[in-house]
Amino acid sequence: MTDIIYLDNAATTWPKPESVYQFAHEFYCKMGVNPGRSGFDKAIEAGNILEDLRKRLTLFFGGDEETPQRLCFGYNATDALNLIIQGLLRPGDHVVTTNLEHNSVIRPINHLVRDAGVEATFIPFNGAGFIEPDAIRKALKPNTRLVIVNHGSNVLGTVQPVFEIGAVCKERGVLFAIDTAQTAGVIPINMKEMNIDVLAFTGHKSLMGFTGIGGLCVRKHVEIAQTRAGGTGVKSAYPYHLEEYPYRMEYGTPNLLGVASLWAGQDWLDREGLKNIWNHEMKLTRKLVAGFKEIPRVKVYGCEDLEHHLSTITINIEGIEAGNVGIMLDVDHNIATRTGLHCAPLVHEQLGLVPTHGGVRFAIGAFNTEQEVDAAIAAVADIAKLSRK
Ligand code: ALA
Repeated sequence: MTDIIYLDNAATTWPKPESVYQFAHEFYCKMGVNPGRSGFDKAIEAGNILEDLRKRLTLFFGGDEETPQRLCFGYNATDALNLIIQGLLRPGDHVVTTNLEHNSVIRPINHLVRDAGVEATFIPFNGAGFIEPDAIRKALKPNTRLVIVNHGSNVLGTVQPVFEIGAVCKERGVLFAIDTAQTAGVIPINMKEMNIDVLAFTGHKSLMGFTGIGGLCVRKHVEIAQTRAGGTGVKSAYPYHLEEYPYRMEYGTPNLLGVASLWAGQDWLDREGLKNIWNHEMKLTRKLVAGFKEIPRVKVYGCEDLEHHLSTITINIEGIEAGNVGIMLDVDHNIATRTGLHCAPLVHEQLGLVPTHGGVRFAIGAFNTEQEVDAAIAAVADIAKLSRK
């Protein structure tokens, strides 16, 4: 039981499973030395959890089992997406992406367009909030090097048809990358089956780890140029950053506490099962959406197809700015949501919501209950009574 009704799980899942806190605490107390740097037993043991987690996450994402060193750790999805975008695109290259992207994709691409001679096409989503694979196909050009798509929208909650988009990319020989910040840990992903060449993940959402851990999984046929340099713990006399993975994509001391939390998060996901977690979250989401749709002057976005959806939904109440709804939910009803543009300005721009400052996002997590959903519906109904046409 938490002290608030926490419906901001798309920002970070909270609370984490008790087993994650316990394991990470014990591991860090016993093993919190610098992994892969020194030769004493504890340093080797601390390094072992990193190497074992590389193998485990490679399997989890359906990457190439024979190259677990291509599962590289960083801070979060933004960090990984910067490495991917900057390491794959060169002057003269074209990149296809979408209006569903987070600033973690939009901004690195915009920098390359402004400063490095890269061309970009942003594909709009359809009326239901999905990217049509055919729209991707039509946007491809002879110089298209990369297609990068947000697997699950952090605003609309729609889950994109990555299998079909991957098939288009494979057919046309274009690299395909996905941002799994919102989907990893709740929607099954198989890079090989879905023809995904590179994947970015964050640890602190549905993978149930702590903030500050994330990374990327790179298929064996893809080479991402190294764009940073620093300590690797090995071959210290070599004057340049190492080419081999994981070093190519890793810089400095890793987040060992984050690694431990992700390890325990994997244990928890194994016990619970992704399907059961999604079923629970979507049962509550359907109830929330149905409840909101009954309330006069409430507009719900992107919830036509809840079969290909996450437990993230965004609404507005006609006549009340999103930010004010968020304040009333918090102050008067003890409900935590996220309002505004959610670092995904093109979604709001396409929906025409920028002038009214975005929307109010409700993101249900694995530990939310029906009572909490009932409270959210009642709170929105209460606030909507204040709205004037
Ligand atoms: N990207 C996270 C969100 O959507 C932080 O809230």
